[in-house]
Amino acid sequence: MLTRNDTGLPDPSSAIAGPVKPFIIAHISDLHTGSPFFVPNLMDRAIVEVNELAPEVVVITGDLTNDGFRQEYLLAKSYLDRIECPNVLVIPGNHDSRNVGYVHFEELFGPRSCHLYKDGISIIGVDSTEPDLDYGTIGRARYRWLEEKFAEPATLRIFLLHHHLLPVPGTGRERNMVYDAGDTLEVLQRTRVNLVLCGHKHVPYAWRLENLFVVNAGTVSSLRLRGNTRPCYNVVTIDGDVVTVVRKYPFHGSETIIEFSPSTLAFEKPTIHASKRDLGS
Ligand SMILES: [Fe+2]
Ligand SMILES: [Fe+2]
Repeated sequence: MLTRNDTGLPDPSSAIAGPVKPFIIAHISDLHTGSPFFVPNLMDRAIVEVNELAPEVVVITGDLTNDGFRQEYLLAKSYLDRIECPNVLVIPGNHDSRNVGYVHFEELFGPRSCHLYKDGISIIGVDSTEPDLDYGTIGRARYRWLEEKFAEPATLRIFLLHHHLLPVPGTGRERNMVYDAGDTLEVLQRTRVNLVLCGHKHVPYAWRLENLFVVNAGTVSSLRLRGNTRPCYNVVTIDGDVVTVVRKYPFHGSETIIEFSPSTLAFEKPTIHASKRDLGS
């Protein structure tokens, strides 16, 4: 268990006041409304659980729909409108950009990129999709914009995108990640981003890469699953210098994915290490 007291290391953000109480972010991804694998009951339950949690922010990292159709978007919106949180950040996924679905996204959810600054925490999300393609890209044209946005003093910087920036174990052959992942990772390191939240692969996982923690969410409400993964969403709790990411299974409890200190970069991945022990490796 990481301690929540001072780490003894200089904190470059110490002049900025962080949240005075634990700051909770519910991270939902990959609803896939309209898919034959979409399970309304799971989505209903996840919304009830998130509302009970009363997070400061809810982020939804794409694949709201399965094919970008208007009726799928309307269904997704009918669910997301029930989230009782003043700060809901939504970005599209590759499935949402099929069939020119991004026009419905803009009409129903607004701009495809977002920025929230709250209690010293800076959160920026971008649309990493390309119309009708499954791979993702951030693009050189946005590197400077990200640098400018993240230049704002903050105790924690969080970047949202749909696609994965790093390979995720247990997802089969590697494909469809962000084409400019290397350059994007360097931009995020340079801009002192602490945490990346993404979806896409439907497998929850966490990596630390140098100063950066990259955390994937699973699919919240679909049975488009790989191996033995189950529908789930993530809850990120920022409590002083400790960030904890828990994956929650609608109806069925929770497990900690990773706990880390943004200042010392110490981390623990209890669930992942426990699974490895179970496998005897
Ligand atoms: Fe998806
Ligand atoms: Fe996706």
